Amino acid sequence: MERTDRYWVRDTDLASDGMKRIAWAEQRMPVVGAIRRRFERERPLKGVRVAACLHVTKETAALVRTLVSGGAEVSLCASNPLSTQDDVAAALVEEGVSVYAYRGMSESEYYECIGRALSIRPEITVDDGADLTVTVHKLAHRVQSPELSHVLTGMGDVQLAPEDIRGGTEETTTGVTRLRALEREGRLLYPIIAVNDSPTKSLFDNPLGTGQSTIDAIMRSTGVLLAGKRFVVFGYGRVGSGIAARARGMGAEVIVVEVNPVRALMAAMEGYRVMGSKDAAKTGDIFVTATGNIGVIRREHMELMKDGAILANAGHYDVEVSLGDLRSLAESVEEISPSVERFRTKDGRNIYLLAKGRLVNLVAAEGHPSEVMDLSFSLQALSVELLARERERLPSRVLDVPPEVDRAVAELKLDSMGITIDEMTEEQLRYVNEWKLGTS
Ligand SMILES: NC(=O)c1ccc[n+]([C@@H]2O[C@H](COP(=O)([O-])OP(=O)(O)OC[C@H]3O[C@@H](n4cnc5c(N)ncnc54)[C@H](O)[C@@H]3O)[C@@H](O)[C@H]2O)c1
Repeated sequence: MERTDRYWVRDTDLASDGMKRIAWAEQRMPVVGAIRRRFERERPLKGVRVAACLHVTKETAALVRTLVSGGAEVSLCASNPLSTQDDVAAALVEEGVSVYAYRGMSESEYYECIGRALSIRPEITVDDGADLTVTVHKLAHRVQSPELSHVLTGMGDVQLAPEDIRGGTEETTTGVTRLRALEREGRLLYPIIAVNDSPTKSLFDNPLGTGQSTIDAIMRSTGVLLAGKRFVVFGYGRVGSGIAARARGMGAEVIVVEVNPVRALMAAMEGYRVMGSKDAAKTGDIFVTATGNIGVIRREHMELMKDGAILANAGHYDVEVSLGDLRSLAESVEEISPSVERFRTKDGRNIYLLAKGRLVNLVAAEGHPSEVMDLSFSLQALSVELLARERERLPSRVLDVPPEVDRAVAELKLDSMGITIDEMTEEQLRYVNEWKLGTS
């Protein structure tokens, strides 16, 4: 571990490996590249302090380098203790970014790193899961919480001034859910742009990115044949529907568990078996949670599972599979490989947990493919620009990405793929804006 005031990373000697992988990602992120070239010319973020709490991956590096090209001063901490790519963190340090992230950090180190990222006294926060933003709010509202002592250690003598924060962005569903709860209580202190909710993000990143990378993670860590397996997906939302489609594509028999009747109906009509969680527990071979909820796979399910069942989580936090229940059922736990643990139950079965119940696609694989992060991180870069450029501070609410930004990102992506689309004729434009014309 290497620790200075400006960075905490595993090993700065990994920087050249990291730079090669960042270049690989950037080659596949043409929209972020176009934004970066414009930022280099226009410098819209000149002098703006940005604290970012993101999975430290090669794609995140492409975003950070874009913000820096726009003139921002960036501090970066990890949004998960296990998802940091240490070579990428080292490469960013070499580029002059303050990085506080390494794979395998403890919970106290995780929060201390959030404190270090905040010590830049950010004007804009960029978050994935809302740990950074919620920390700012807990400090400002003087909410007592055990992790804050670590945050304060990380901040040292620095005092935060939330009124100086022009706004923030949020990358994922769980983060937006938390921040909407803060808004409902009337305690949100600055505007948040919900990047997650914009169509160019959630129609692509959530289903396609998580779908592919979750299957990738299961295959990398277990090598099991998916064809013929009973593959249970908990939550048929934006993420779960993508995982289900990819698992079906690999020849698995996919079973969906839902609590929302509309989503359950949709899964059934898209050809999946839909059943209650206890029936699914008896039937399944592989179980993946993607709900954003807590205690989704718990003792009552684990007791019914077959010998050899494999459990993984693709939701944001490691609360979807009840780890306490799994531990209490086990007489022994053995690490089979860095991403696979075997829990031997007292009645003699083996249940395998991947990635310690944390987001499997980032811990046991490399997260979303660069092509899809090109969309999400273009939206992030443009949302940061919007927050920096607004003369009047936006209202302290959870806000949508403006539709024109969404559209611009989609157009740039299509352009990079060599795809042209039609425009409506004058007649069609008039027709779709007309109410008098009907049956003729
Ligand atoms: N792993 C990743 O890279 C990645 C990427 C994007 C989002 N996420 C995370 O994935 C989670 C899901 O995101 P989403 O965008 O699909 O959300 P979503 O709201 O679109 O879908 C969640 C679904 O889970 C269902 N659900 C809730 N509780 C349930 C329960 N107890 N049992 C069964 N189903 C239940 C809901 O009815 C809903 O249909 C969030 O935590 C999000 O932050 C992870």
